[in-house]
Amino acid sequence: MRILITGGAGFVGAQIARLFRRDNRQAQIFVLDNLKRRGSELNIPILKNEGVTFVHGDIRSLSDLDGLDGNFDYLIEASAEPSVMAGIDGHSDYVLETNLVGALNCLKFAVKRTGAFVFLSTSRVYSIGPLRKLNLIEQATRFELAPFQDTPGASPQGLNESFPTHLPRSFYGASKLAAEVIIQEYAEAYGLKSVINRCSVIGGAGQFGKADQGILSFWVASHYFKKPLQYTGFGGSGKQVRDFLHVEDLYDLLLLQLADLNSCQGKTFNVGGGKNNSASLFELTALAQKIVGTKVSIGSEPQTALFDVPLYISDNSHVTSRFGWAPKRTLETIVDENYRWIKENEAALKSIFAP
Ligand SMILES: NC(=O)c1ccc[n+]([C@@H]2O[C@H](COP(=O)([O-])OP(=O)(O)OC[C@H]3O[C@@H](n4cnc5c(N)ncnc54)[C@H](O)[C@@H]3O)[C@@H](O)[C@H]2O)c1
Repeated sequence: MRILITGGAGFVGAQIARLFRRDNRQAQIFVLDNLKRRGSELNIPILKNEGVTFVHGDIRSLSDLDGLDGNFDYLIEASAEPSVMAGIDGHSDYVLETNLVGALNCLKFAVKRTGAFVFLSTSRVYSIGPLRKLNLIEQATRFELAPFQDTPGASPQGLNESFPTHLPRSFYGASKLAAEVIIQEYAEAYGLKSVINRCSVIGGAGQFGKADQGILSFWVASHYFKKPLQYTGFGGSGKQVRDFLHVEDLYDLLLLQLADLNSCQGKTFNVGGGKNNSASLFELTALAQKIVGTKVSIGSEPQTALFDVPLYISDNSHVTSRFGWAPKRTLETIVDENYRWIKENEAALKSIFAP
């Protein structure tokens, strides 16, 4: 079996490559990455050591993909500019050229040279307007979904695939949504075996988190390296909520999907930690304090950032009924594994998390 993971030196791509390698010593696994994300370069020796082939390449350039040797059974598209803030500085070229043009290049390559295409999309395809208008109850430590919701796709369980995707989103969300639409056309027109997973926040060991992407890792690392933090937006008390998915739970799902691609052709699934694995920033602080054993000062900025939303929780009903999959690993496990990784690699990670 030959697997190509684009963006495979990044957090999700590298962890998935290593898990494929762990479970299938015969598989030939290739990762292609342009190393745009700070920290991804640290994964290269780890991947090479485990027998994964690293190719320095850029998905914005079709010739980088065409230059790869041989055909592949699966292409997992895990490269991205994944920050919701990308482009707000007036420079949207990189996010659009990677997330949309690059994804299109991966699709062109997949049609010619691979058996199937898996796309890691995002919950950020959903509209910010309706997300901000969810009926929420303010509890002591978090916002909670109220029993009655008037937006389609919203329920106390979370958000399902019928939640609106219209404007406003972000360049990140819009580019991913546009790529999804083209993937579905490829599936329809060319019979490309494909599946789209709209993931919520993913976490675990190996994530080079920043304030604008990879929040769990950023929060844990800030506790570890004793860097001050800030609750930003929605009153500044840290009550905004997300659900957190362990990267290995995502891998478990990919195995189920790859075994059954014929029936999920171009289909879209919300995939996340779900209600049981959700937390507010305030609650994440308590967990980080408990696991890392430190306290840091946390400031408060009531003003909400442009693309921020008060709550996102995946309703996994569709993916659960289709594949019998549900996340197994708890939020506490995710935080604990992230903490252990930082502790074990403190010297290398200090320059990234606490330069
Ligand atoms: N981490 C999350 O919480 C999360 C949530 C939802 C969806 N996703 C999606 O999962 C995928 C992986 O995310 P991640 O968290 O691993 O991000 P990441 O930034 O750690 O990894 C992405 C990798 O893509 C590489 N890359 C960027 N531009 C490239 C280009 N033009 N050509 C080749 N490589 C390029 C980067 O160097 C990086 O190594 C992305 O598609 C992202 O949108 C992630």
